[in-house]
Amino acid sequence: MEDVKFNKFLISLNALIPLAFLAYDGYYARLGANPLEFFLRTTGVLTLTFVLITLSITPLRKIFGWNPLIKYRRMLGLYAFFYALIHLITYSIFDKSLDLKMIVADVWQRPFIAIGMLAFTMLVPLAVTSTNGWVKRLGGKNWGRLHKLSYVVAILGVIHFWMIVKSDVFYPAIFGFVVAVLLGYRLVGNRKGGAAKSTTPAVSN
Ligand code: HEM
Repeated sequence: MEDVKFNKFLISLNALIPLAFLAYDGYYARLGANPLEFFLRTTGVLTLTFVLITLSITPLRKIFGWNPLIKYRRMLGLYAFFYALIHLITYSIFDKSLDLKMIVADVWQRPFIAIGMLAFTMLVPLAVTSTNGWVKRLGGKNWGRLHKLSYVVAILGVIHFWMIVKSDVFYPAIFGFVVAVLLGYRLVGNRKGGAAKSTTPAVSN
């Protein structure tokens, strides 16, 4: 129990360090020529990274038998949502000054924004239903079905990233490869009748 608490503390520490660095560098004006773009891009990459770390928990449990990892899945997913929220707030307040007309126009003009919004919209129900209460209310099966949306978020996140970078697709390709492996593992497991299947709700501590 104490170990779990300590591990959660370590995960939080590591999850928040990038934000602390961003804040520190931002405060001392060290985010480069376009600080807003740097901040947006970094929080975007952090969002996608946490989505993928969260999705990798099940394969790691199944392949290596690291079952206690389940205790940390919910908090990792919530860190994905946390960074997505900062990403969205940075975009809507600091980039678009909360001007709804400008945001709507941007969604039309730059389709990658629409893809990002769609991915964020899917993250909301996942974050809301991450509590034990919601697991009980929905029932394990339905909860698992809903949380399959996290794969769609990952795919949309990669498409969003790919559309932004235009020519240098190296990094989105790496993220895309990881998503393909995770999804492939999941699909193969489903076909085999459950080896990689996990609809285990993150109920716990
Ligand atoms: C809430 C809706 C979202 C909006 C409005 C949005 C908008 C943006 C913007 C404006 C950028 C910077 C583009 C540029 O520098 O030209 C960006 C970058 C990025 N976003 Fe989002 N985004 C959203 C959601 C998401 C989500 C949910 C993810 C991940 C699952 C994500 C992942 C990324 C990534 C990885 C980048 C970095 C691209 C790079 O390094 O070049 N975004 N996003």
